[in-house]
Amino acid sequence: MPRRLLVTSALPYANGSIHFGHLVEYIQTDIWVRFQKLRGHDVHYVCADDTHGTAIMLRAEKEGITPEHLIERVWREHKSDFDGFLVAFDNYHSTHSDETRALSEDIYLQLNERGLIDIRSVEQFYDPVKSMFLPDRFIKGECPKCGAKDQYGDSCEVCGATYAPTDLKNPYSVVSGAPPVRKASDHYFFRLSAEACRQFLEDWTQRGDHLQEEARNKIREWFSQGLNDWDISRDAPYFGFEIPGAPGKYFYVWLDAPIGYLGSFRNLCARTGTDFDTFARPGGDTEMVHFIGKDILYFHALFWPAMLEYAGYRTPTKVFAHGFLTVNGEKMSKSRGTFITAGSYLALGLDPEWLRYYYAAKLGPTMEDIDLNLDDFVARVNSDLVGKYVNIASRAAGFIQKRFGGKLFGSRFTERFESELPGVQSAAGAIAAHYEAREYGKALREVMALADEVNQFVDKHQPWQLAKTGEHPEQLHYVCTVVLNAFRLLTIYLKPVLPVVAGRAERFLDIPPLTWADAGTLLPPGHQIRPYEHLMTRVDPKQIDALVAANRESLKPVADASAPQRNAKTQENAVTENTQPAAAPAAAPAPAAETASPTISIDDFMKVDLRIARVVTAEHVEGAEKLVKLVLDIGTEQRQVFAGIKAHYDPAQLQGRLVVMVANLAPRKMRFGESQGMVLAASADGSGVFLLDADSGAAPGMRVK
Ligand code: 2FM
Ligand code: ZN
Repeated sequence: MPRRLLVTSALPYANGSIHFGHLVEYIQTDIWVRFQKLRGHDVHYVCADDTHGTAIMLRAEKEGITPEHLIERVWREHKSDFDGFLVAFDNYHSTHSDETRALSEDIYLQLNERGLIDIRSVEQFYDPVKSMFLPDRFIKGECPKCGAKDQYGDSCEVCGATYAPTDLKNPYSVVSGAPPVRKASDHYFFRLSAEACRQFLEDWTQRGDHLQEEARNKIREWFSQGLNDWDISRDAPYFGFEIPGAPGKYFYVWLDAPIGYLGSFRNLCARTGTDFDTFARPGGDTEMVHFIGKDILYFHALFWPAMLEYAGYRTPTKVFAHGFLTVNGEKMSKSRGTFITAGSYLALGLDPEWLRYYYAAKLGPTMEDIDLNLDDFVARVNSDLVGKYVNIASRAAGFIQKRFGGKLFGSRFTERFESELPGVQSAAGAIAAHYEAREYGKALREVMALADEVNQFVDKHQPWQLAKTGEHPEQLHYVCTVVLNAFRLLTIYLKPVLPVVAGRAERFLDIPPLTWADAGTLLPPGHQIRPYEHLMTRVDPKQIDALVAANRESLKPVADASAPQRNAKTQENAVTENTQPAAAPAAAPAPAAETASPTISIDDFMKVDLRIARVVTAEHVEGAEKLVKLVLDIGTEQRQVFAGIKAHYDPAQLQGRLVVMVANLAPRKMRFGESQGMVLAASADGSGVFLLDADSGAAPGMRVK
């Protein structure tokens, strides 16, 4: 019986680009969805842009366009990034849609009818110039603990303290720069603390298997701190949906965001004739599965099931939370160039399936963070995918094509296949179980172990030898046919991760699209294949250097805040506005810093032989505009170096001082003689040239490292 699944990934904010942190989740979900579809299940994978809130409203204003315009542009960008990474949503919609509006109103009215909405007066900071209430992230001031200036209203980036915006000293509005005033206004609350609601949530989260064990534990902590009612309204001006019967009050972005899952699905249902209620109402055997980051667990494991339950909709079957991404063991960083956008990767022509494979190899079912180590990325993709998997096809295809006209061995060998390559076919069940359990790392380790087995089989039978002697054509034909059959099975196992490569393999083998059930069969005897096509290229480390360089930004003024990094959020600020300000007039532009170069290994660095040298003599060079001729003592010998420092140094003053030189630079013939090295100096455009010195104690010949 095929399962019927509605699967979602978290909706990305429409105020920033998709980056590598986001992609962990979309790739994780897409692999699971593709796997379920290959198994023959009926799956609907939906997502949408999360379009509402103050940040988007202000950003549009800053750009001089309407919010509708802005979200339309970002939607196109996001959609093309997802397509580029082969994230195959069945529908990619927007929360700013008729469907999401209607569902939000309905859910709200149901909650209200059940007495779960409260109206209370709340005092908040208000920008008197812009006439608007300010979310925490739009207020800055001095940290109440350490006094650091320009800290956000929820936490201090200098000392790490968390506090209420009203605790800030000398607060100012990030929008207008004006000091905010405190003002009261009516807010709408979802009464999560109502006894029945609390009971329901305790039950839903702690019993059954909707959540991972770690998530359940986290939620128990939250319960022990007590559940607060949830403020679901924001005052005009706000970009969002107005609350029915409450003019000037809007649904808080986090109220309609998850409803956007259902909005997107309803939109899909209307196009495909699928019955919305079968998936959206309680009862029945359909499943609703959400993939999310661990930072938004509170919303998905508490607010969302409670909203659904009390508004008469079905609650989630599963909420799967994953960890954050680190790059080279650290938080993604714009200055290091490791805050990598999806668009930059695609624009440089890098293969999306490299990243899909690497993430999959690292992913498991837990909330643990995963690390993208860029050196390991290159090594693993090249060795596993190109060196092991693709290699299998290329080792056998040529012989079949040239020696046997592209036709496989003529008789059946189903039993023999299993004895030649034990496990390659029978592993299908175990690998499927790993995918089902989101143990992608385990699945891929298993697939690569099988690939090793197949490569050993090739090594053992040495088809190239068989071809050379020409003595046993039957054996050559048989061996290569076994190998191509194994390749086909591995292709099935990798297909959820590598759909494009799998498509190329299907073309090369000249077979219809593979499904998981095909792992139960082998290619028909005498099957005709097509000439081998290139399946995947190796990653060149230079491509990764270029990627990092493309994403490296010199320190930007805060005013230019772009996509908030989802994993920078704490639970506390997650329940407030949790978006970044669109403008911060108080921030002065940072001085232009020269962008640093791509990272190198320590081995690369050690190739440069840097030495302390003493200037023995320094003199002007007749006829040279810029050069000074230096004779340098490096302990074991003297070197002559021509340095372009004439405009900045008087040769007489250089004599006797220490400098740092590159001692293993290839000598260069110049008009005035041979230059046997280079002295190091700091410089920037128009700023002069400054020779490096060494502290006392350094002596000529010492290595600098
Ligand atoms: O954290 C985020 O990026 C939110 N835009 C996720 C919303 S998920 C769902 F609730 F819509
Ligand atoms: Zn502080």
